[in-house]
Amino acid sequence: MAAKRIVLFGAPGAGKGTQAQWLCDALDLAHLSTGDMLRAAVANKTGIGLKAKSFMEGGKLVPDDIVVGVVVEAIAHSAKTTPSGYALDGFPRTLPQAEALREMLAKRNENINLVVLINTPEQLILDRLTQRRSCSDPKCGAVYNLKSKPPRNEGVCDVCGNPVVQRTDDKPETIKTRLQAYRRETEPLVGYYKKACVLVDIPGDGSVYEVAGRILEAVAKLGH
Ligand code: AP5
Repeated sequence: MAAKRIVLFGAPGAGKGTQAQWLCDALDLAHLSTGDMLRAAVANKTGIGLKAKSFMEGGKLVPDDIVVGVVVEAIAHSAKTTPSGYALDGFPRTLPQAEALREMLAKRNENINLVVLINTPEQLILDRLTQRRSCSDPKCGAVYNLKSKPPRNEGVCDVCGNPVVQRTDDKPETIKTRLQAYRRETEPLVGYYKKACVLVDIPGDGSVYEVAGRILEAVAKLGH
């Protein structure tokens, strides 16, 4: 079966990471999250991490050249380890990133099959982000929500037992900056992918399972 190359697109807190995890488990795809890759680089104090840290903590986008380099490597690696394909989560986020992705894939005679816009109302986003907690170990990366998915034991990761903490960029002021960056720099990509006829717009409200069902339905139509 042909490899699937899917982009999960949407505002901060729309549910991209949660759905990418689900989709990749269900379809055996590689989950390529630029946020997770950059957080791991920051935690490991790599050259990329040191460059990205202040942008991330301030809720700003990391410069395109840094992020594109990270994604080029991740896609090349996933082609070897997971030939069934991948879901990009949090990339592309600017027009230059989208163009870099298109050019990178064209060289391999490939393209993005599907862009899923998870359209989540802003009030729900604010609620989800303020209630989100994450495992402090970037190698684990489990994500919780105090309302919809609390850890079994308060403050302790169900998966690895490390402390569960609030992401430094999930503070109200930083959330505001991230949402502004989304509207200014990322939302214009909706038009870009509509023009390319690969965009599906799905509602992001409802339970995790309801949203996952909508995405799986869109994926099932691929190739029909
Ligand atoms: P990144 O980690 O990508 O953050 P983001 O895009 O802001 O997205 P989030 O992770 O905040 O939200 P999400 O949509 O994944 O929601 P989630 O599923 O967790 O990026 C962080 C930073 O890295 C950026 O600000 C930037 O600095 C940098 N960066 C990353 N990529 C970049 C790029 N391409 N270019 C430049 N810079 C880049 O859900 C949120 C919460 O809601 C969770 O608690 C979850 O449990 C809960 N939840 C989810 N779905 C549901 C549901 N249906 N019902 C109830 N609760 C739900």
